[in-house]
Amino acid sequence: MDATRPVSLEKIYFGGDYCPDQWDDATIEEDMRLFKKAHINLVTLPVFSWAKLEPEEGRYDFGWLDKIMDKLAANGIGVNLATPTVAQPAWMSRKYPEVLPVDIAGRKRTHGMRVFFCYNSPKYLERARAIASAMAKRYASHPALKLWHVANEYGTYCYCPICRGKFIAWLKDRYGSIEKLNERWYTSFWGRTVFDWEEINLPDETNDDYRFNPTVQLDYMRFVTDSTAACFRNEYDAIREFSDKPIQTNMSGYIKKLDQFVMASRMDIVGWDNYPWPTHEMSFVAMKHDIMRGLKGGQSFLLAEQSPNQQNWQPYNVLKRPGEVRRLSWQAIAHGADSCLFFQMRQSRAGQEKFHGAVISHSGRDDTRVFRETARLGDELERLSPHVVGKRTRAQAAIVFDWNNWWALENSSGPNRDIDYLDGVHSYYKAFYERHIPVDFISENADLSCYKLVVMPYTYMFRPGLKEKTAAFVKGGGTLLAGALSGLVDENDHVLGEFPAGLRQVLGLRIEETDALKKDCFNGILMDGREFPCRLVCDIIIPETAETLGSFTKEFYAGSPAVTVNGFGQGKAYYIGSVPGTALVTAVLDRIGLAPVLPADDGLEVTRREDVGEETLFLINHGNVPLRAVLDNEYTDPLAGHKVSGEVEVAPNDVKVFIRRKQHDV
Ligand code: GLA
Ligand code: ZN
Repeated sequence: MDATRPVSLEKIYFGGDYCPDQWDDATIEEDMRLFKKAHINLVTLPVFSWAKLEPEEGRYDFGWLDKIMDKLAANGIGVNLATPTVAQPAWMSRKYPEVLPVDIAGRKRTHGMRVFFCYNSPKYLERARAIASAMAKRYASHPALKLWHVANEYGTYCYCPICRGKFIAWLKDRYGSIEKLNERWYTSFWGRTVFDWEEINLPDETNDDYRFNPTVQLDYMRFVTDSTAACFRNEYDAIREFSDKPIQTNMSGYIKKLDQFVMASRMDIVGWDNYPWPTHEMSFVAMKHDIMRGLKGGQSFLLAEQSPNQQNWQPYNVLKRPGEVRRLSWQAIAHGADSCLFFQMRQSRAGQEKFHGAVISHSGRDDTRVFRETARLGDELERLSPHVVGKRTRAQAAIVFDWNNWWALENSSGPNRDIDYLDGVHSYYKAFYERHIPVDFISENADLSCYKLVVMPYTYMFRPGLKEKTAAFVKGGGTLLAGALSGLVDENDHVLGEFPAGLRQVLGLRIEETDALKKDCFNGILMDGREFPCRLVCDIIIPETAETLGSFTKEFYAGSPAVTVNGFGQGKAYYIGSVPGTALVTAVLDRIGLAPVLPADDGLEVTRREDVGEETLFLINHGNVPLRAVLDNEYTDPLAGHKVSGEVEVAPNDVKVFIRRKQHDV
């Protein structure tokens, strides 16, 4: 892993993407007035301006960018300076066709679209490094510069000859010999032995064997992640030669394609783009924020983009309701964000996104609903910023989240094609959310010993050491809650042994068979006199030392164990042998008994961030009836300017932020 520096921001950054290259001087002047009126303190630019900055190879035109940087600095607005490398200029694609990617269907793509380059192309890397370097040199000491933003939402999968060559080199490095590769890829199955590295293909649609072999797929996803991380680092290193400001890239809200623990390890601060769908539950959005906070061990992250109003790319682009953006923004902050950045500042007049929401709409007015709401939020964030920035979440529970598991489970042929990793993890997470219990997300490599409870939903893949680490954790007094399909395979997706070999001893059981349920079909689990629905898979469990807490209610295995607990050393290990609904997880969590942030009504979102001197409580009501929480101390409501204690009520669609100085024991 590359070393990066922990970042502390000076304040909550508020603002977002701005494209001044689309506007004349008078509009830009007016924007400065509007930005100040809305308390905007940071803009991200020039994300898509490579063609304007380098109209021909090696000839840079920074004049217009100098002007805008100076203007922003003069107006007290900082810049999240973007290298424009997400959209290469047309001349480059024409002169060096190698920069154009080949898609999964094997088609060489023509110039167009953003994030449409081969991240392994030496020419792309050379030109990207050159412009990143030129920008870093030019702007390193510019007073407006606050952060660096590299490219934008990486995530292309390329299948070109350059990538094939690099993939083979990556495999040589990983396996050392063709014999080892054959062993790890298990090529004896279906007679797929590889005799020479040159016989290796890419897992694109022209080769169903490579495309569907789970180990090959996994390796390609790892390879694309490593290549993309290296592509990011190519620019990172160029910038770092001249500038010591934090460097990051904004990760897409659709977070499956790249292993973001790997990406984050190369960045100074994590940044992500939050575009919830109207159908998304608030606990699902909260979970994504918590995952982002987990990527760098609990450090604050950037909310790098969200829409100040509707999107344009959903089938039905519902307006954000009054107060909704404020709630979503505070939700991000409540879970660890130290910024609130929008896409975008001013609506583009044409192009694909002319109907996308913006702080300044086509009308250019400062009295629109969206502008007024933005300005109010900006004012609030400015006042509360000192009570938020850099504060951490303290959790006694952690959920293991792992991109390799996500890929392997969803790529797997069997047991159930409807397995949805994120949805399965969410069933567990939601129980914490509803019980107001803080929870971290950790990778398989994390230290478990600082937690009381570790949850392994769908922790399918046990890489070397995890079995021993988990056993030591429980033996030493920790509590484990494992879900179905956990502990089954090694890092190459080879079965480890009798199911669930990675956890068998600790759980005190074996699994003889696993049944699959069709979409929308349920089994039931009878526990504590209640029947809980469960879905997708049902394990036929043979307890060894485990005690049965709940049993299936249907099918030929009705009455057989579904939920178990096993005393192991000083600790306990729970197992749920199906995909539970949140109610069942909540019932198990209640037995484990972790403390909530505060006792509060169902539906109220409650989190706390703290540092040595102060703690900050966030109470968010996403619903339409008033909800209450009971404070554990006397707090201050800094916006209202008075003390609060005891029972407090949060109105529908409202947010409360309370602070308390900590008493220090002498
Ligand atoms: C992404 C991109 C932005 C913009 C928004 C629109 O997140 O990073 O450039 O296209 O989507 O929602
Ligand atoms: Zn390629």
